[in-house]
Amino acid sequence: MKTSAPGTERVRVRAPGKVNLALRVGGARPDGYHPLNTVFQALSLFDDLTAVPAPAGEYRIGIVGDQAHLVPADGSNLAVRAARLLASLHGGEDHFGAAFEIRKTIPVTGGMAGGSADAAAALVACAHLWRLDVSPSELQDLGGELGADVPFCLLGSTALGRGRGDELVPILSRGGYHWVLALPDVELSTPAVFRRFDELNPDAAPPPPVPPGLLEGLSGGDVRRVAANLVNDLQPAAVSLRPHLAEVLDAGLAAGALAGIVSGSGPTCAFLAANEDAAVRLSGALAGIGVCRAVRRACGPVPGARLFG
Ligand code: C5P
Repeated sequence: MKTSAPGTERVRVRAPGKVNLALRVGGARPDGYHPLNTVFQALSLFDDLTAVPAPAGEYRIGIVGDQAHLVPADGSNLAVRAARLLASLHGGEDHFGAAFEIRKTIPVTGGMAGGSADAAAALVACAHLWRLDVSPSELQDLGGELGADVPFCLLGSTALGRGRGDELVPILSRGGYHWVLALPDVELSTPAVFRRFDELNPDAAPPPPVPPGLLEGLSGGDVRRVAANLVNDLQPAAVSLRPHLAEVLDAGLAAGALAGIVSGSGPTCAFLAANEDAAVRLSGALAGIGVCRAVRRACGPVPGARLFG
C-alpha cells in the first residue's frame, strides 16, 4: 500500500555477494529446481544501487563497473523486474517509476549472487523511494519469486538455507572470516552446472545435511574448523565443465589458503585465509601466479541489502 506521494529524493542501497560455506544438493524436483541444504555467508563484495524517481510507468537502468558490458541494461535486468513486481503488488506498474544506476563489484555470473544482490537492492530502494508500507517478510517472499538467492541477499550475515535455498534460518556465527576470491577467465552458467550435476548424480536423492563441524566451527569462531568443513556438491560439476578451475584451486592451496572451494555454481573460487595478514599475502601470491583474471579480498559475514550514504 502506498502511504504518500512518491518522493523526489535519491536512495542508495548496498547489497552483498555471498559464498556458500556448505552447498549440499539433492536430485532435481519436478519444477527443475534442486533441493538444497546450504550455509550462506554474506561477503563484503558489494553492488551499490542508486535509485531516483522516474515518470510513472518508466523503469530505467544503467550499469557501471569493469563488467558492466556483461549485464543487460534493459527490462530483462533482475533489478528492473524486482521493481516492476513490487509496483504491481502496490497499485500497479503504471503508478510508479524508477531510474537505477548500479555500480557492480560482485563478479557477473560468478556464483556469488550478483544478479540476486541487485534485485534485493532494488526491492529495498523502491520500498523507500515509493514510501511503501512493506514488511521484511513481504520483501523476502517477493525476493523468492525473483530468484532462489534473493532472500539471502536481503537477509545477509550467516544463514542456513533449505528448499531452493530461499527458506532461511539465521545461524550463530562468531568472528570475522577473511576470504580471497579468484575470478577465473572462464564463464559458467548456473543451469548448465546443475544439469552436469544431474548427469554426474543420476540417482535422485535428498540433499545431504550440512557438516555439523561447520556449524560448530562457526558458532565457536574457529576458522580452521570452518575451513576443514567447507563443502560444495556442485564443485565436481563445475570442474568437469571447466577443468581450469582445478588448477586455480590447487594454486590457492599452494599459496597458503586454509581451504579453497568453488563459490556456488562457479566459476569464482573462494579461499579462506587464517587471518587478514594471511589473506593479504595469499591475494598477492595468487595475483602473481596469473591463473585468473582478477583477485579480490573480502570479509564475512556482513549485513544484507540496506540503505547507506
Ligand atoms: O533462482 P535462480 O534464477 O537464481 O536460479 C537459476 C537456475 O539455477 C535455475 O533456473 C535452475 O536451473 C538452477 N537452480 C536449481 N536449484 C536451485 C537453485 C537454482 O536447479 N536450488
